[in-house]
Amino acid sequence: MFVDSHCHLDDEKLKGDIEKVVAEFKAANVGIVIDIGCDAETSEIVKEQAERFNGVYFAAGIHPMDVKDARDADLDKIAELAAHPKCVAIGEIGLDYYWDKTFAEKQKEFFVRQIELASEVKLPINIHIRDAMGDAVEILKGNADKLVSGGVMHCYSGSAETAKELLKLGLYISFGGTVTFKNSRKAQEVAAIVPINRILTETDSPYLAPEPKRGTVNSPKNIPFVVSKLAEIRGTDAGAIETAVYNNTLELFKKIRI
Ligand code: NI
Repeated sequence: MFVDSHCHLDDEKLKGDIEKVVAEFKAANVGIVIDIGCDAETSEIVKEQAERFNGVYFAAGIHPMDVKDARDADLDKIAELAAHPKCVAIGEIGLDYYWDKTFAEKQKEFFVRQIELASEVKLPINIHIRDAMGDAVEILKGNADKLVSGGVMHCYSGSAETAKELLKLGLYISFGGTVTFKNSRKAQEVAAIVPINRILTETDSPYLAPEPKRGTVNSPKNIPFVVSKLAEIRGTDAGAIETAVYNNTLELFKKIRI
């Protein structure tokens, strides 16, 4: 059974066809899908989707870009959603300086507050970092005592050296479509060195469709392409990656019930 640890089924490109999307990924043997919230509103939508479909779980959190308009009441909402039986993580949370750095301080504040929340409710965190790896590593190291329930670097784009530091913090590394792209040597280097018991797979649907589907609307059904590429990079067979990712998923996301 394959796993998509990070997707956005609430996105406009997917939610209108949700029954078809779910039927297609189930037919592709993708049996565990984590639908990720980006603010209080979308976290509520992914909760409703998780309630509707077997095998779909969700994460509640405020994405660094959505921190701009976020208030304390939104964090209260995330805390409330965290108690839901199918809420398996707090996320996505993190830092993103790529589009807009003007509220970097507020991003850091909300990142830390959501790490604290995850520690209180004993859930792992789903981490989004873009163009902010230095600050992110500093925050994660400074809050290492609050990472007892673990976490995953979603769509990891850093170096192999930084990956080693994150692995020391007990974090998992998740790979998606990027690792299948011809020009993504860095992601492939990381995929080669991460211990097999720390690898996860994701699509980040509807974004970042893997080769040979690049440029199309991504959906969890494409996970097998990511698994095949990881197997190729690591010189192993796809079945070994599939089994390891399944076991890693149950180890990290302890609220998942199969
Ligand atoms: Ni995402």
